[in-house]
Amino acid sequence: MKKRDLIVRYSAPERINHWIVAFCFMFAAVSGLGFFFPSFNWLLNLLGTPQLARILHPFIGVAMFLAFMLMFFRYWKHNLVNRDDLDWAKNIHKVAMNEEVGDTGRYNFGQKCVFWAAIISLLLLLASGIVIWRPYFAAAFPIPLIRLALLVHSLAAVGLIVVIMVHIYAALWVKGTLTAMVEGWVTPLWAKQHHPRWYRAVREQQSQPTKQEKRP
Ligand code: HEM
Repeated sequence: MKKRDLIVRYSAPERINHWIVAFCFMFAAVSGLGFFFPSFNWLLNLLGTPQLARILHPFIGVAMFLAFMLMFFRYWKHNLVNRDDLDWAKNIHKVAMNEEVGDTGRYNFGQKCVFWAAIISLLLLLASGIVIWRPYFAAAFPIPLIRLALLVHSLAAVGLIVVIMVHIYAALWVKGTLTAMVEGWVTPLWAKQHHPRWYRAVREQQSQPTKQEKRP
């Protein structure tokens, strides 16, 4: 396929932004599991030392939150749920059999759920993380609140890990999707098959004359 036929889905800054979030997530998830479950303590040695992992975990968590906020403001409009999404959700059994359902826009209902679940869990992780962050903030909060925050932090972390496992599975399962986030482009066939409404919008935009062409 000729390069000019490919459709750009993510610019380089968008991809760098996404992979910073993904890297921070991996670090925070691996270290978090290492702190929480004694059987996963060995994971902490993969990150240098357990002490280093303990110091870096909250800072990397904050970096993940801030980097995700850039993605949030970039994509929230594309992730608003509409009528077509209900069709998609009702026919999830067909989607599981690799059939396309509904007139999907830039993101399908499954991707939208991941998006909203990610922002909710990240907000919970940030708020609870500040309450339990020793030595900087925890001393300012009463013990019962710290206990509650620990519970919220653990549940939100497990929730986010499960959601991201689904996200990674979907990214690998739908052929051509990973290329979108690694190289930035998709083929017209991929776009037409998985995101027909987005494909039409892209084509419409491409057929609009540029400002220069409009000039007499
Ligand atoms: C660690 C491995 C990860 C892989 C392999 C991965 C892969 C991908 C791929 C291939 C896409 C493009 C999907 C498309 O355009 O149709 C994507 C989009 C996206 N990813 Fe990831 N991702 C990972 C981690 C994360 C993490 C940790 C988060 C957030 C906490 C995240 C949030 C997103 C968001 C918000 C989008 C845009 C989709 C939307 O807005 O609904 N990803 N990812």
